[in-house]
Amino acid sequence: MSNIAIAPSILSADFCNLERDLKAIANADLVHVDVMDHHFVPNLTLGEPIVGRICQVTDLPVDVHLMIDNPLDELPWFIDAGADLLNVHVEALDEADLKRAVAQIHEAGLLAAAALKPKTPASALSPVIAELDMALVMSVEPGFSGQSYIAGSDLKVAEVVQMARAAGNEELLIQVDGGIGLATAPLVAAAGADVLVCGNAVFRADDPQAAIGAVKGAADEAREAAL
Ligand code: DX5
Ligand code: ZN
Repeated sequence: MSNIAIAPSILSADFCNLERDLKAIANADLVHVDVMDHHFVPNLTLGEPIVGRICQVTDLPVDVHLMIDNPLDELPWFIDAGADLLNVHVEALDEADLKRAVAQIHEAGLLAAAALKPKTPASALSPVIAELDMALVMSVEPGFSGQSYIAGSDLKVAEVVQMARAAGNEELLIQVDGGIGLATAPLVAAAGADVLVCGNAVFRADDPQAAIGAVKGAADEAREAAL
């Protein structure tokens, strides 16, 4: 049985052929959409109109990773666009606004996630960890696809697993994003990751569906061995 979910990141897809590339990942578990505003991160990607079209053309749940300075102001746009899961960065919000963001996402009936940059301690999730559906551990500095996995990110995954248990949130999914492929998926899966974001490892492969299957297989094997 497969436990690990794969979320291909369309940042590595062809933005002029998004519908074609979304069809090429039909065996994925969800589609990961990186929204970047050129302020929170140095890169600029896409916004609500394109997220809306992606939601219309894919059958997969849409996971929106908001790398923007003002997530609280923009949540309604992405809720209206039809996203299934909204992921806000803890670094972009103070504690009160982080709680507001999670509550607002839940009130709209979506799944709520919070993300940590590589240098942000796991403890930054504390104010909301009991309420979250998913926590995202970034294993590269956010901004670009195709970077190398930062060694030791799996230790933060294990830390978040412990924090979630201590907070009584046994259902919390842990997502890892950045430099995940055949070599690194087993590391983070063994540490307790449930959802793996893959940009280049999927969209730069000759056969994206086969790449999804291979990463998932390697991750499942490592997870089982670690249990
Ligand atoms: C980076 C993005 C990632 C990125 C992953 O800021 O959040 O989702 O697209 O790409 P790879 O898997 O190539 O590192
Ligand atoms: Zn991402």
